[in-house]
Amino acid sequence: MRLLVVGGGGREHALCWTFRRENPDADLFCAPGNPGTAELATNLPIPADDLDRIADAADMHGVDLTVVGPEVPLARGLADRLRAEGRAVFGPGAAAAQIEASKAFAKDVMASAGIPTAASRTFQALGPALAYVDRHAEPLVVKASGLAAGKGAVVCATRAEAASAVRSMLGDRAFGAAGTTVVIEDFLVGEEISVLAVTDGRDVELLPVSQDHKRLLEGDAGPNTGGMGAYSPVAVATPAVLERARREVLEPALVELRRRGAPFTGVLYAGLMVDAAGTPWVVEFNCRLGDPETQVVLPVLSGGFTESLWHVALGEQVSPIARHSDRCSVTTVLASRGYPDRPESGAEIELPSTLPDGVTIFHAGTARDADGRLTVKGGRVLNVTAVAPSFAEAQRLSRHVAEAVRFEGKIYRRDIGWREAERVAR
Ligand code: AMP
Ligand code: GLY
Repeated sequence: MRLLVVGGGGREHALCWTFRRENPDADLFCAPGNPGTAELATNLPIPADDLDRIADAADMHGVDLTVVGPEVPLARGLADRLRAEGRAVFGPGAAAAQIEASKAFAKDVMASAGIPTAASRTFQALGPALAYVDRHAEPLVVKASGLAAGKGAVVCATRAEAASAVRSMLGDRAFGAAGTTVVIEDFLVGEEISVLAVTDGRDVELLPVSQDHKRLLEGDAGPNTGGMGAYSPVAVATPAVLERARREVLEPALVELRRRGAPFTGVLYAGLMVDAAGTPWVVEFNCRLGDPETQVVLPVLSGGFTESLWHVALGEQVSPIARHSDRCSVTTVLASRGYPDRPESGAEIELPSTLPDGVTIFHAGTARDADGRLTVKGGRVLNVTAVAPSFAEAQRLSRHVAEAVRFEGKIYRRDIGWREAERVAR
């Protein structure tokens, strides 16, 4: 089997790691990949959103299965393009990827399908949006409708803050084209979980549930980021909550997308706010695996992942994916000073010479300089995933190794999994 992973972050390193583990003899390629994927696969120096060159590379290397990591190439139609050329590809077409690329579209799908989500209105003109904010109860949430790398949602404690967020999006075009439409919605109360559903468009196979930490700083303070760490499993995601997520969120969304002529295959990611009654309210949908959720979830799988993706890519029924139900996992993200706005780069990275059992370091924003030294290249630099029999042990190991990695300007949260830690302590 010849497999191509598209993307170059921590998620893609975890994908390559899992594919290699499940398929020791496969020919693996990653475009563009990173120094971590280079140890498992052949990196192809092609940006993930260069559709022409990715398609050419799939052709040239006789790729059997392409798995697309990031949302941008999906929203631009990479999966459609490859499928039109007769290739098996795991990931939705552009029409279905709108579930992430347009929050206005996602809200419309949810309204049609009766899916629990915050009440909202969509605006393109500044005046009516400000008038709506003026009548809205506090707190409220203002979101750029388009793709904004996880930074397009502003949770506003007051109407004044919301008005200024609306002005910066619709007036000053702070998010460019992504912010020409804004969604203003009610604030949801509860605990967030990330539900990743591998789907053939009808049936779903849930991956283990995880919880991301979107805020930059300990105690969930500071700005929203792409995600500073995650853990799995999450106690609030009980079998009853997951059954509701399946029946009230995932299946109705898939039915509605089919009805609209945009059938979804790939991973449908539901970001859910679970309230005290166990109702799963949708905060957002993504059209792909999460980052860093992938890095925390894939290491607890015990088999069947490649095969399931392969079935879906061939248009067949999604097949079961096995997991180690007696394992807990914690991922700590190491970022570079200045992230998310202006991350520093260039510092040399020193990794521990040996890692404790159960610990894996996934690369994200790393590079090799001319002398082969590992250096900081991007905002989120490395992910330290620890798998252990207990949550407390996984948390301890992940934090311990995060501390041991060295580079100038390293920032990370020492409190990944704090909600679970409080539950364990009770
Ligand atoms: P999004 O880009 O839509 O995922 O939003 C980013 C983050 O903002 C989410 O992960 C939540 O933590 C928070 N958020 C977004 N929408 C809401 C909401 N309606 N109520 C409460 N928090 C929200
Ligand atoms: N970690 C959130 C995301 O992947 O969108």
